[in-house]
Amino acid sequence: MNDIVVSMKNINKNFSGIKVLKNVNLNIYKGNVMALIGENGAGKSTLMKILTGVYLKTDGEIYLNGNEVNFNDTRSSQEAKISIIHQELNLINDLSIGENIFLGREPVSSSGRILWNVLFENTKPFLQKLGLNEDPKEIVKNISVGKQQLVEIAKSLSTDAQVIIMDEPTGALTPAETKKLFQVINELKNEGKSIVYISHRLKEIFEICDDVTILRDGETIGEFPINELSEDSIIEMMVGRKLSEQYPKVETKIGNEILKVENLSNKFVNDVSFSLNKGETLGVAGLMGASRTELMRTIYGIYSYVNGEIYIDNNKVKINSPMDALNAGIAYVTEDRKSNGIITGMNIKENITLSSLKNFRGKFGFLNKSKEEDESVSYMKNMSVKATGTEQLLKFLSGGNQQKVSIAKCLMTNPKILIMDEPTRGVDVGAKKEIYDLINKFKKDGMSIIVVSSDIPEILGICDRIMVMHEGHVSGFLDMKNATQENIMTLAVGKEVHPNDIA
Ligand SMILES: Nc1ncnc2c1ncn2[C@@H]1O[C@H](COP(=O)(O)OP(=O)(O)OP(=O)(O)O)[C@@H](O)[C@H]1O
Ligand SMILES: [Mg+2]
Repeated sequence: MNDIVVSMKNINKNFSGIKVLKNVNLNIYKGNVMALIGENGAGKSTLMKILTGVYLKTDGEIYLNGNEVNFNDTRSSQEAKISIIHQELNLINDLSIGENIFLGREPVSSSGRILWNVLFENTKPFLQKLGLNEDPKEIVKNISVGKQQLVEIAKSLSTDAQVIIMDEPTGALTPAETKKLFQVINELKNEGKSIVYISHRLKEIFEICDDVTILRDGETIGEFPINELSEDSIIEMMVGRKLSEQYPKVETKIGNEILKVENLSNKFVNDVSFSLNKGETLGVAGLMGASRTELMRTIYGIYSYVNGEIYIDNNKVKINSPMDALNAGIAYVTEDRKSNGIITGMNIKENITLSSLKNFRGKFGFLNKSKEEDESVSYMKNMSVKATGTEQLLKFLSGGNQQKVSIAKCLMTNPKILIMDEPTRGVDVGAKKEIYDLINKFKKDGMSIIVVSSDIPEILGICDRIMVMHEGHVSGFLDMKNATQENIMTLAVGKEVHPNDIA
């Protein structure tokens, strides 16, 4: 076994009296990738925030190269060469890529002036390493979520850390970007650096990690060399039970056309036409940059369209704002929950009911508080949101549980058409299945669903039909007979699939 670089022993953490970590142990070895896995809310991010001084532990010990350390703030962990890439993006949107990477560490002249040219020059090698072809001066808000994630990773690499913690780094990355990241991880390993890798994607764990530490409900289940584990054994230890079929298929009756989009164009999409039927789940596949999110945002009224028509139930509608979309019966679960899905400073109830407050107003416009509470409780229960109650602030929920709240918020509007953009990103295997079960339940009730997903097995598993996009236009449709990983990828890169294969 390699040398132990960091050892966390008997770590306890209470948040307002609630124990979220109970005597947790974690070892990090030199030149090794340690996977840290567990369901949503298991305590992975909290443990890593304690190691990096974001949170203070309630008790326990942390050893770095054999010496006990106490990081009371993030600066002291950085000085000890421990770096973290947080699960939720932490970039400053209005600053450039380079400024974000060197924030607080800007190169300065002897008179104390920031050397901008040097800063942007120093940014380049880190972007190159990750295959990110962007100008270091580009403002962060103008690049995709996937690229922002790469900037976060570049930022961490630039600190020359000995221990790098990656909390769900591939959530927004394309397969090619992920491959590049894995190359970088291997290089870091060869340089003797240590990595903690948090991911809900078990395939990645098997591809990149040497050892695995499993947490469940704030307790350590154990540490294992990866070659002693199988996917099934990991899942069983994570959830404490055996899971049934991952993609439960229900047969529902698909009804008449509910949504028709005709020749929709704007600066993001080009001449897009498709339809959606009652009770149907339409998958939308494509690579990053295919403008799938932009299409959904256009249909939801966030972006305007210059050409084309949208029909709902055969009636032409003009959607100029999300309010118009909601009134027309369209709800949208966003891809990036932090920026536009939920408000982290508000509590669960306020978030869930945000888009449907009118349902809770009585005759005289007063809010029916008990109805609001009851319905929030029932949604939380239905979706197994792990929290202390409806009053808990969103910022205190784990990433996956925040996602469930953002879905609940949309469902509360009782939509006819539910658009879900990467609905299970950052969600654990157990909760994923809960979301699939919910999709099936809503389908059964006659709701029509559009699922944008980069997770091809997921699209294949839950959809009735698949639309593939490439660079802003539709490159083809596949029915389930022809839907294979290969056909999807072929269309996604803009090639033609043999006509016989296309639905
Ligand atoms: N600042 C906080 N205040 C109160 N409770 C918190 C806070 N941060 C986290 N928690 C709670 O601690 C528990 C562990 O959360 P944590 O974010 O560590 O989970 P996780 O394993 O990273 O989950 P995920 O896979 O969803 O990211 C959760 O129940 C969460 O609600
Ligand atoms: Mg987390």
